[in-house]
Amino acid sequence: MWFDEKSMKLNRRDFAKMGLIGGAALILPSSAKAQTASFSQPLAFPPVLSPTSVDATTDYYNISMQAATKQIVPGGNTTIWGYNGIFPGPTIKARRNRRVVVRQTNNLSVDTSVHLHGGHTPASSDGFPTDVIMPGNFKDYTYPNDQLPATLWYHDHTMDFTGRNVYNGLAGFYILTDDFEDALPLPRGRYEIPLVIQDRTFNQDGSLYYDNAGQNRELGFIGQQILTNGVIQPYHYVERRRYRFRLLNGSNARIYELALSNNQQFIQIGSDGGLLSAPVARSVITLAPAERVDVIIDFAETAHGTNVVLRNLAGSEATSEVMQFRVMPRRYGKDTSRIPPVLRQVDRIPESSASVTRNFNLNMDVVMGEAVHSFNNQPFDPARIDANPQLNATEIWVFQSQTQGEHPIHIHDISWQILDINGAPPEAWDFGWKDTFLVSSGNRVRVIGKFTDYTGDYVLHCHNLEHEDFAMMARFRVS
Ligand code: C2O
Ligand code: CU
Repeated sequence: MWFDEKSMKLNRRDFAKMGLIGGAALILPSSAKAQTASFSQPLAFPPVLSPTSVDATTDYYNISMQAATKQIVPGGNTTIWGYNGIFPGPTIKARRNRRVVVRQTNNLSVDTSVHLHGGHTPASSDGFPTDVIMPGNFKDYTYPNDQLPATLWYHDHTMDFTGRNVYNGLAGFYILTDDFEDALPLPRGRYEIPLVIQDRTFNQDGSLYYDNAGQNRELGFIGQQILTNGVIQPYHYVERRRYRFRLLNGSNARIYELALSNNQQFIQIGSDGGLLSAPVARSVITLAPAERVDVIIDFAETAHGTNVVLRNLAGSEATSEVMQFRVMPRRYGKDTSRIPPVLRQVDRIPESSASVTRNFNLNMDVVMGEAVHSFNNQPFDPARIDANPQLNATEIWVFQSQTQGEHPIHIHDISWQILDINGAPPEAWDFGWKDTFLVSSGNRVRVIGKFTDYTGDYVLHCHNLEHEDFAMMARFRVS
């Protein structure tokens, strides 16, 4: 069955309890079953976008949001909505403190809004859900990049339709770096690879299947196949040396538990908001929607000819394998990279510096037989201000799950640190900067952050995109 995913068990129990919701959605149309053989296609790399002009302070980019067709399923054509018609979108490379201005032109037939996820962005460029670009219009988004370097991504954020729009392809990498990071001896160039993992379901003719009613509205839409950089279960030839992979879960709702088939460990060097203080070895990495991990995988000890599979322990059959690394000898000389024991010092924000604590309960209700997700039982209303932090205040936000579901909570504007989860300090890999935190069933997660630089309206929301679209979002105004 397509929904027997480990990460969904709690949700399914919840669903069964509800009884009422989405009986019809349990049955997928029989056409929605196009399957592709594993590891039959090479990994793809989204192109790096070139600026249309540059000046002393700023790189200017033009992007057209448009429909296009792409061959994803062998023998079928898939209509996608892409930035410049590409899925995943082109990668923007930015430098710390050098401004980027992106002119986004909407050549689709629906409203859009663009958010830079993880960006410390003035409110007017943050992609507020109702701040839409209508078809035929454009908007210039300004990104100052006055923040720690990290793996960011830009994606659609349109009120009520983020799930559909991102699913159709509106997402791309935005990679921010600086001189400090460049000076570290980490793998770079062809050995530094961004990987966005997404799940999709295809109809027999190759078209995308999407539905957000019933069970999909309650649990979030879970696709039947796993794509990396837009390719279903690709392979990639790797040399016997170190690689740096910037992993992003770009799926609407699926949570991955990533592991390597040869039981080798990942060395995690970064999280959502950039480098950790020190590297951490991990065998299994849980990656919830919108979370990023920056990892080193060292293939030096792996024999030539070995195939190492990036597995998803939370999946089953077709969704238990993400991609395959085919190990071959080194081609371009000695591996001069290293993993330094100290990466970038993360200064922990003292709990005593917080002046305000805010509580957000995570709730689900059923209205007219359909799930409604919310914070504090108040479904999103873009006209209502739910929190009003003062500029430069340090605050503690507390997320208490009161549902059986899994909720990756994302807060716009600033980066946060996790204080504790159910009262216990976070694991070493969660000790750095975060903007998305998985709040599992019944859990209580406390985070601390400082509202620097910008006033204005932002949102926080669940990054299960169907939960977001069905109202688990709140507005806050920094003043
Ligand atoms: Cu990645 Cu408000 O979103
Ligand atoms: Cu949620």
